[in-house]
Amino acid sequence: MIVCVCHRVSDKTIAQCARSGMAFDDIQLELGVATQCGQCEGCARSVFSECAPGHVVAHLQLQTAEQARQVERA
Ligand code: FES
Repeated sequence: MIVCVCHRVSDKTIAQCARSGMAFDDIQLELGVATQCGQCEGCARSVFSECAPGHVVAHLQLQTAEQARQVERA
């Protein structure tokens, strides 16, 4: 999906940059995202924050069958 229409930048490109460790400012300088009309900034920052290293996606907890039974009994 194109996020920045002015500079024709997709969410995939922003995600790749974020995952590679680029700061949002660097993405703006490199790709021009949110530097013209600014309408894409909210969406671009949202994609960036979801994909930036350190973003907690989910907390998974593994349980053994015995632990699950103990939780059910409690
Ligand atoms: S849509 Fe990104 S600067 Fe205009």
